[in-house]
Amino acid sequence: MLKKIDRIRNEFAAELAAVDSLKQLTLVRDKYLSRKSGIVTLMMKELQQVAPEDRREFGQQLNALKSEVEGALQTRETQLADNALVARLVSDRVDVTLPGNRKPIGHPHPLTLVRSELEDIFYSIGYSVEDGPEVETTFHNFEALNTPEHHPARDPQDTFYISDTLVLRTHTSPVQIRTMQKQQPPLRIICPGKVYRRDNPDTTHSPAFQQLEGLAVDEGLTFRDFKGTIEYFLKAFFSQKTRVRFRPSYFAFTEPSAEVDISCIFCSGNGCRVCKMSGWVEVLGCGMVDPAVFSYVNYDPEKYTGFAFGLGIERFAMLKYSVNNIQYFYESDLRFLEQF
Ligand code: DAH
Repeated sequence: MLKKIDRIRNEFAAELAAVDSLKQLTLVRDKYLSRKSGIVTLMMKELQQVAPEDRREFGQQLNALKSEVEGALQTRETQLADNALVARLVSDRVDVTLPGNRKPIGHPHPLTLVRSELEDIFYSIGYSVEDGPEVETTFHNFEALNTPEHHPARDPQDTFYISDTLVLRTHTSPVQIRTMQKQQPPLRIICPGKVYRRDNPDTTHSPAFQQLEGLAVDEGLTFRDFKGTIEYFLKAFFSQKTRVRFRPSYFAFTEPSAEVDISCIFCSGNGCRVCKMSGWVEVLGCGMVDPAVFSYVNYDPEKYTGFAFGLGIERFAMLKYSVNNIQYFYESDLRFLEQF
C-alpha cells in the first residue's frame, strides 16, 4: 500500500509537470480527486480493507498525499492564471506614445467662406438673405429689370435659353424682382447664388459662377446711404485701409448706375500687374433702382427709392486670397483647397 501511494505520488507529479493549460489541469484534477472515480478517492475507500493495526499509518499517508495533490493543483492553477493574465497584458499593450490615427477633417470651400463672410457683414447691418430659382423666366431675368426684348443683353449667344420664356438666370438680379413682388418696403436683402452665361472657361471666366445681389428699398433712401453702405461693406470685407471709388456706368435696371473700384489690394494702389498699373480694381456694379423697375412690381416710384448692387463671389475670393485662376475653385484639387 505504501508503495502504491509513492507510485501515485510520482505519477501525479509527472502529469502535473506536463500540464500547461487550465483545461488540462481540470482533467488531471478529475483523474485524481473526482468523487466517484478519482484515484486518490478510490484509495480512501480501500482503507477499510486494510488491517486495523495498519490503518492509522496508511490513513495518515493517504491524507498527506491528498493534501499534497490538492495543494499542488492549487499552486499550478494560480500559476497558469497568472501566466494567462501576463500574456494578455502583453498582447493588449497600448503604446500611448504612438501618433493618433487622424481622420482628415473637411472644411468649407473658399467660395463658401467668402459667401458666408459677405452674408455675415450684411446680417450685421440688418439685411436678410433671399433665394430664387436658377431656372428663371425671361420676365424676371430681363423684362422686369428694364431689359426689353431685342436688347443685346438677351442675346442667345450670351444666355442659356431653355425655351422662349425660360433661361438659366444670367445674374442674381431677378431675385430683386421676386422679393419685391412678394414683400412691401422697407426692404434690405441680399441674394447669393449661382448664375450661368455662355462664356468659355478661362482664367477669369466660367459658364457657371456665383453672384451676390443686394437691394435696399425705403422711403427717402439716397445716393449717400448707398455710397455709405457700399464703402462700409467693402472695407469690412477687404480692409479698413481700402479706398473706394465710384465710376459712372450703365445698367438697364439702375439710374444712375456706377461701377465700383477699390484700391488694388496687391500693390496698395501703387500699380502692379493685377491692376494693370492703374492702382484700382473693379469689384462690382450698382446704382439707384430705376423707377421703371418699381412699376413692374407695383411699388410707388414717387414714394420709394432704392439702391442695388451685384458682385461676383469668385472675383471677391480671387482678390481676397490672391488666386489668379478662377478654374481652381472648380477643380476639387485638394492641394488648392487645403490652403483655406
Ligand atoms: N446684374 C449685374 C451683372 O450681372 C450686376 C449688377 C449691376 C447688379 C448693378 C445690380 C446692379 O443689382 O444694381 O452684371
